[in-house]
Amino acid sequence: MRLVFYTGKGGVGKTTTAAASAAHAAALGHRTLVLSADPAHSLGDVLGLRLASDDEGAPQCVTPQLAALEVDARATLEPHWGAIRDYLVSLFRHQGIEDVIADELALLPGAEEVAALLAVEAAARSGDYDFCVVDCAPTGSTLRLVTLPEIASRTLRLLLRVQRAVAAVVSPVARAVVPMPLPGPEVFRDIDRLLYKRLAALREILLSETTSIRIVVTPERMVIDEALRAHTDLALFELPCDAVVMNRLFPPEAAAEAFFEGWGHWQEERLAEVGELFAPLPVLRAPLASDEVVGAAALAAHGARIFAGADPAARLCDAPRLRFTRDARGYRVELPLPHARSDALDVAKLDDSLIVRTGTRRRAIPLPRKLAQLSLVGAKLEAGLLIVRLAAAADGAR
Ligand SMILES: Nc1ncnc2c1ncn2[C@@H]1O[C@H](COP(=O)(O)OP(=O)(O)OP(=O)(O)O)[C@@H](O)[C@H]1O
Ligand SMILES: [Mg+2]
Repeated sequence: MRLVFYTGKGGVGKTTTAAASAAHAAALGHRTLVLSADPAHSLGDVLGLRLASDDEGAPQCVTPQLAALEVDARATLEPHWGAIRDYLVSLFRHQGIEDVIADELALLPGAEEVAALLAVEAAARSGDYDFCVVDCAPTGSTLRLVTLPEIASRTLRLLLRVQRAVAAVVSPVARAVVPMPLPGPEVFRDIDRLLYKRLAALREILLSETTSIRIVVTPERMVIDEALRAHTDLALFELPCDAVVMNRLFPPEAAAEAFFEGWGHWQEERLAEVGELFAPLPVLRAPLASDEVVGAAALAAHGARIFAGADPAARLCDAPRLRFTRDARGYRVELPLPHARSDALDVAKLDDSLIVRTGTRRRAIPLPRKLAQLSLVGAKLEAGLLIVRLAAAADGAR
């Protein structure tokens, strides 16, 4: 199943563009699912439907080839998070927090993101869809969404190891003496299931060749700047972007009106600038519609204009990926980091991982065993590519 996430700054047109590309793909014959990972769902509004979320979280049929789903975090997470949640609720209650608030607090942070990912994984596993489009919440939340399997599995695995060790020794006795609820085996079972089965599967899906991210922008400076940062952050986590969509461009007929002529020139300039900044990603043009684009038919027509003959389900660009290479001087780790600045970049080696920080994001990249034993002897940024040199300590000193 091909998986495409649409991200971008708040209000730029993510939901409209995601729904339009899904509707167009469905019209081309792909069995398509569009799902909203934004808790402030507006996918139903764009489709002109009320997307009832039932307890099973089943997608709703929009056209024979198009299904849609607004993910309900609470309902989706219940089977996975139930025991963990019950435990947290009992812990919060014990601390004197009111029932209703305890219940709210126990909905794990990032619950919407986890739920959306679980829905993606369920869709992939069902075999019912060729193409899944995810309408994301604004940029920061998208990054949390797509990096969650990696970050959560590291954190949960550590937590699980510590808690298991402690619980095995302490729990039977502690239950009698410690004045607070302790997690029972069912809590660990839920963490275990969520962690090993689902998150591991998701990580694989996200890092596979079948997943892409598309960044929606409008011809405005602040929007483009945020998109550039998102592009770097996504690359740090090896999440490949395959296109930028420039939304709300005046259609050619608007240029005939004297009032819009100047705006049209300025938009063309921004478009050229975005093309250069994001190269080699293609920049798709989404015209400003004369009215809001609502309903499957209008969305499919809008999608056909955006993709202009290209298939929304295709991979639109093969961006370079993380590579480990070897030359006479030792090993190289090459990580594409478009738009990264060397003054906002740190690289270090810690045990068997390479720690890379760009701006406010930091990632531990696991190294293959051969490289894990080497020392870091240099790192440089070269035209958006981070090149890290590793060599045996003695070689490095030479
Ligand atoms: N190309 C377009 N032509 C006309 N109207 C548009 C276009 N793209 C988006 N809109 C309108 O702009 C508004 C915001 O669009 P949309 O909801 O798709 O943005 P969003 O990025 O998903 O917002 P949010 O960050 O709040 O989720 C909507 O009213 C939508 O109908
Ligand atoms: Mg939206």
